[in-house]
Amino acid sequence: MSIGVFDSGVGGLSVHRRLVERFPRADFVYLADQANAPYGGRPGEEIVELTRAGAIRLFDEGCDVVVLACNTAASVALRRLQQTWLPGYRREVGRPLNILGIVVPTIEAATGLPWEHEAELRGDKVEKLDVLGVFSTPATAKSRVYEIEIDKRRQDVAVFSEPCPELARMIEDGAPRDALAATIAGHVKALATRIGRSPDRAILGCTHYEIVADLFQAALPPGTPLIRQPDATADALERYFARHPEFQPGESAVRRFLTTGKPGAQHSLVETFWGGPLSFGRA
Ligand code: DGL
Repeated sequence: MSIGVFDSGVGGLSVHRRLVERFPRADFVYLADQANAPYGGRPGEEIVELTRAGAIRLFDEGCDVVVLACNTAASVALRRLQQTWLPGYRREVGRPLNILGIVVPTIEAATGLPWEHEAELRGDKVEKLDVLGVFSTPATAKSRVYEIEIDKRRQDVAVFSEPCPELARMIEDGAPRDALAATIAGHVKALATRIGRSPDRAILGCTHYEIVADLFQAALPPGTPLIRQPDATADALERYFARHPEFQPGESAVRRFLTTGKPGAQHSLVETFWGGPLSFGRA
């Protein structure tokens, strides 16, 4: 079987790159829904439908496990699809299939706790010692998934989200680095102003932002730890395959890249990040 990796555009390549390093012999299909990117400003129902269509496309390509390398899709659509659609679809196609996200691994990495762990809720006031900033699309910020799920597990962590409405589109379009740096600095400053200080740690809660992680690092106070979604996702997938022997990735190291948008090469911002030329076929 192949591992499917899905994003609205090029952002999921940051996760894909790490998965390829972690599973070098596995077969992969990457699908970028560039015809509909960015997702971050869309209504929830549209995000659910686009994510379902992307998953079906990847299942049709022979993938049995699809990783939503997109916070927006994972935080808005994943639970809905897993609960209301996937069981029936699995019966229809008659083979084991699953869709996994990147929010759960990120929360595990941010809290240092397994997903199953929920803190015992105590009545007494807990001092919030660790301030965590989350930079994301507006749809992810609106879902409040990071605030809600981290608060359930670690009451000493205070989570503050900063929606960055234009950033994924700028990265998708290959905007110049100085324009990206200025936008990122503006969001880092806005978050610090709102909290009253800089965060102690940060999550780049949109996979596109990994492509410009150095610009976030430069805008945040020196040494601010970033919780890396690609690493967290690769760790979680390794644990998942160990628990689920029915899903064993293929061994031919076949890697295909598909887009619903314009096939061909990606712009230089993406190719520099990827470390070489990258050509997409038509989905
Ligand atoms: N890279 C995606 C995410 O992690 C989506 C960005 C977008 O399409 O707005 O949220």
